Amino acid sequence: MSRLDVVILAAGQGKRMYSSLPKVLHPLAGKPLLQHVLDTSRALQPERTIVVYGHGGEQVQSALAGHADLGWAHQAQQLGTGHALAQALPQLQGDITLMLYGDVPLTRIDTLKQLLSAADGGKLGILTVTLANPTGYGRIVRNAENQVQSIVEQKDATPAQAAIQEINTGILALPTARLAKWLSELKNDNAQGEYYATDLIALAVRDSVPVVTTQPAYAWEAEGINNKVQLAQLERIHQLNQAHDLLVAGVTLADPARIDIRGTLQHGKDVSVDINCIFEGDVSLGDNVTIGAHCFLRNVKIAAGVTIQPYSHLQDAEVGTNAQIGPYARLRPGAQLASDVHIGNFVEVKNAQIGVGSKVNHLSYIGDAEIGTQTNIGAGTITCNYDGVNKHKTIIGNEVRIGSNASLVAPVTIGDRATTGAGSVISKNAPAGELTIARARQVTVPGWQRPEKPAKK
Ligand code: UD1
Ligand code: CA
Repeated sequence: MSRLDVVILAAGQGKRMYSSLPKVLHPLAGKPLLQHVLDTSRALQPERTIVVYGHGGEQVQSALAGHADLGWAHQAQQLGTGHALAQALPQLQGDITLMLYGDVPLTRIDTLKQLLSAADGGKLGILTVTLANPTGYGRIVRNAENQVQSIVEQKDATPAQAAIQEINTGILALPTARLAKWLSELKNDNAQGEYYATDLIALAVRDSVPVVTTQPAYAWEAEGINNKVQLAQLERIHQLNQAHDLLVAGVTLADPARIDIRGTLQHGKDVSVDINCIFEGDVSLGDNVTIGAHCFLRNVKIAAGVTIQPYSHLQDAEVGTNAQIGPYARLRPGAQLASDVHIGNFVEVKNAQIGVGSKVNHLSYIGDAEIGTQTNIGAGTITCNYDGVNKHKTIIGNEVRIGSNASLVAPVTIGDRATTGAGSVISKNAPAGELTIARARQVTVPGWQRPEKPAKK
């Protein structure tokens, strides 16, 4: 089996993004462009992957600091794609070198595998596409026998060459053993004064190295990003592709054009998602989960049978089977809901465990708390967890009834089957099984007279 090295060109500045963020770090589906290319590269199991960086080098390196298996090659000045490739040359040791671009994020793994197998055995492979409008791209020049002779850049092309519609996507599979010699032979006597990687093709032809071409199944696989328009277009294509995969896998989507997945979405059977939902990080949805319109879910685990009503916001939380959430609910980090829990409108839950069958249905804040099973928290209940310096815990037992508009001043414990009166400020532990009320008693003043304005003369 041939040993593969991957070189990713990522030295360009991306001027047309008008951003201080290097182009290859701009996110597509929540992930930097370069990370998409790295993930694709990794799936090909190369011996090594080398990123050629230049502009914003430190930012690029620190954004990808987690990747110990990456090699880096610095290109101080952008003197062309051939010059960029030459910077990686000292690190190349395999049989085939696959050249990718850091700003072309959506190339499919199968497409690259096809190119690599076509180029196997010391050939040079070019990924090409045929475009109705080839303006701006390098043209694939073939002879009468249809064999590739060279690639000619737009700016160097004769009118006849400019009419060629088969173009170079930029993705090349190169015989590594030849590169040292070929790269040293590149010249920059062309319209752009650059060292072109595309000139390697003519050198291969000269040296009788066979040149082969393959095509991707979809044109978007080879599309690069130079500005925010192209970024937005590829984002939509990628989102539609993901939505398509979900539909094929049996997920019901109210509208495949109105769902955004920025991470991974795992799902069971009979899951349905209404319009305009956003999924970020790692989300898993069990069987029979229903998600209403306009929900945001980030790093959450939703068990089977859960219904999430519209406009709910869930992050770093776990929801047990058959629970009901929302509308307008907010689950913050550390919210852990057991089975059959109900969280209603305008309820915020943070760092709290809520036991089986318990309900917090209206206008409440539950933070740093433990709530037992079958407990009901009345409307407008607030756990006062923060004294301005430290956070304290509220512990509520099983089958408790917290009356409406309660302030539970932590640290505080409410025993099993306790009841608290509406409007109470509970600052001491409430014993199990008893009614605890902590509010001013209601008085009526008999015979009290309202002040009256004196009658006008
Ligand atoms: C290149 C190809 C062209 C192809 C097109 C596809 C060459 C000479 N031309 O043209 O045939 O049709 O891509 O999009 O290869 N880069 C560096 N260092 C450099 C120059 C470029 O890292 O010195 C990187 C850029 O960041 C970019 C990629 O290489 O990611 C392509 O460079 P770009 O200048 O966009 O090449 P094109 O002129 O579009
Ligand atoms: Ca380009």
